[in-house]
Amino acid sequence: MRALVTGGSGFIGSHVVDQLVDHGIVPRIFDMVQPTFRTDVEYYHGSILDLDAVTMAMNQVDAVFHLAAVADVNEVAADPHYAESINVRGTINVLEAMRKTKGVRRIVYGNTTWVYSDAEGDVVDEDTLIPPPSNFYTSTKLAAENYCIAYSRQFGIDATILRYGIPYGPRARPAAVIPAFVERALAGEPLTIQGDGSQFRQFVYVEDLARGNVMALKSIAKNRVYNLDGNERVTIRQIAESVRDIIGDVDVQFGEPRPGDFSGKVVSSERALKELGWAPQVSFQEGLRRYIDWYREVRSRKETEWAAVDAGLAADGVTAGVFARTAPK
Ligand SMILES: NC(=O)c1ccc[n+]([C@@H]2O[C@H](COP(=O)([O-])OP(=O)(O)OC[C@H]3O[C@@H](n4cnc5c(N)ncnc54)[C@H](O)[C@@H]3O)[C@@H](O)[C@H]2O)c1
Repeated sequence: MRALVTGGSGFIGSHVVDQLVDHGIVPRIFDMVQPTFRTDVEYYHGSILDLDAVTMAMNQVDAVFHLAAVADVNEVAADPHYAESINVRGTINVLEAMRKTKGVRRIVYGNTTWVYSDAEGDVVDEDTLIPPPSNFYTSTKLAAENYCIAYSRQFGIDATILRYGIPYGPRARPAAVIPAFVERALAGEPLTIQGDGSQFRQFVYVEDLARGNVMALKSIAKNRVYNLDGNERVTIRQIAESVRDIIGDVDVQFGEPRPGDFSGKVVSSERALKELGWAPQVSFQEGLRRYIDWYREVRSRKETEWAAVDAGLAADGVTAGVFARTAPK
């Protein structure tokens, strides 16, 4: 069996690729960025805006994990037109390419539990009514989810919608709260919490999340929606203190509360447990430790690489002064 992973060079997609390999499914990455985490799997370079390129990538594929997106909310806010083109029309291209290609009848779409932000109630599940979103990122993700469902009902493509909690772990993008805290702590800078830090989040360890994606290939998951979220509530204060406990000798400071800070809702992943047998296995403390180990390893590898570059340049008689003299005025 072969599965195409759009966005397979990214944070979550690369872990889905790992899990597919572990489960004996042959992955193919489709991404406009060359993979750096998995360089040993088949890779098709292209944009999901290019229908021909996506259609070509579907050749001999049995299932599609569609994760390519503009996933950073700040990038979405900076350029809503571009984000809409990738997140919405790009998804239509993926669906359309599937419709044109014999054999590919299964799509797993990666959405977010942020779609519940405006919903009523403190506990939400897949049956919770989702009101029109007040955030542009979630509106693009919901639009794409709806197109997957419409293609499934109208054109017979089996769609599984997964709503991911906040993922963390190795390969995470640096802008998220956990990477930002870890980077500051390792630089010896204090961790600043806005307010008293009692606001909580549910985080899901990225390898657990990726395993849930592969479990969504089960037949029972056809045309179903599942939340895949962590089962621990972690306050911002606990994150800072856990980072301090692992890294040591870091100040935790408290600043003014941010107005309108999201207080958090409990997202239930009961349906994924009942129907797919999925539950997160990695505790927050353990996942954080694994992330910090990975971060330290990457940092030390980079330092070694730069030291080798310095040594090579010095051997060629190049010094920092040369760059200083030739720098534009
Ligand atoms: N990270 C989160 O907090 C989070 C939470 C919930 C859901 N999601 C969703 O999960 C998916 C993966 O997110 P991520 O965190 O791994 O993001 P990421 O930015 O690490 O990965 C996205 C990948 O998509 C690729 N991509 C972007 N535009 C493309 C295009 N036009 N054609 C081909 N590839 C393109 C990027 O190169 C990148 O490799 C996204 O759909 C995102 O909306 C992310």
